[in-house]
Amino acid sequence: RNPEKELLYDAYELSAKLYHFLLKNTQHGQDAVSYLRSRGFNDKIIEQFGIGFAPDRWDTMVQFLGKREFDLKEMEKGGLLSARQERDGYVDKFRNRIMFPIHDRNGRVIAFAGRILGEGQPKYLNSPESLLFNKSRTLYNLHQAKASIRKLRQIVLCEGYGDVIATWEAGYQNVVATMGTSLTEQQIAIMKSMAEEVIVSYDGDKAGLQAAMKVLPMLEGAGLRVRIALMGDGMDPDEYYRKYGLERYHHVMNSAVSSTKFKLIYLKKNHILLEEHGKIAYTKEALPIIAELSSSTEREVYLRELSTELHLSYESLKQDCNLLRQSMQ
Ligand code: CTP
Ligand code: MN
Ligand code: MN
Ligand code: MN
Ligand code: MN
Repeated sequence: RNPEKELLYDAYELSAKLYHFLLKNTQHGQDAVSYLRSRGFNDKIIEQFGIGFAPDRWDTMVQFLGKREFDLKEMEKGGLLSARQERDGYVDKFRNRIMFPIHDRNGRVIAFAGRILGEGQPKYLNSPESLLFNKSRTLYNLHQAKASIRKLRQIVLCEGYGDVIATWEAGYQNVVATMGTSLTEQQIAIMKSMAEEVIVSYDGDKAGLQAAMKVLPMLEGAGLRVRIALMGDGMDPDEYYRKYGLERYHHVMNSAVSSTKFKLIYLKKNHILLEEHGKIAYTKEALPIIAELSSSTEREVYLRELSTELHLSYESLKQDCNLLRQSMQ
């Protein structure tokens, strides 16, 4: 056991409890509660995810940790405090923010994400990496999701905190998030050790779609089956769930598409299919994706869809696809 680490675990655990207490039991905490309510987060969710509030003061944590005889320098190194700019001493790192505790897979608090109430920059302030927190090995909510993941052999993968919370509320307890950064090999290894299938449920905006395109080969390369849940209108899972409700959310999740289908949909967005050159350009990009499928049944399925969609004969698409396959060998 590393005593420095144990102290930091204690400090994070106590801090999470304090932030949660301050959310529920102070006047200013009520502003945070109102903000959370306005986003549709109820009390049960606030409890389940241990959500808290860091007051708009410089010394809440300095006092709290100091009184409990934590070494403030260690707390600064551990990411709970910041060093003062002009003179000696420390100030709170998180001020006037909604606090989302981040746990390791055993349920110990190892970091925080602090969200501003409303608009402003940065939207999320995150704990730095520390003795406890290695961002590239962490998946948000894994501690609560792992039982369901193991049982279903399936993971729902989101980008953000709100998305995990909404997805959980919608009944998917196998949901985790990468917390905005790109998916790492370590995170994939963790997923691979627990599941066979990943439902990628990223934001429906351009960045989210692009990120989904990027993670597909990574996940498939690791031998995971992948499907993609398509949130419409550029929304993220949280926005989609809040706007359209449970039933439509379930529908989107149940209709998660194969990675081939997703790639075709993604490519199609760049072309105007009413014009000949758009049609041809899209076909040129789509065929290699279909050609690389090893199952001829699968190839037929997608070629027939393409044929219907573009009003092209199945025969000519198949011929071009086969030519491509020959050149690929
Ligand atoms: N993120 C971050 N720091 C930021 C912005 C984003 O760490 N300044 C991470 C967070 O984990 C966030 C995720 O990236 O949840 C996705 O980013 P984004 O879609 O911009 O935020 P949302 O999760 O949709 O945030 P919210 O719903 O609270 O507005
Ligand atoms: Mn509580
Ligand atoms: Mn986003
Ligand atoms: Mn988002
Ligand atoms: Mn969001």
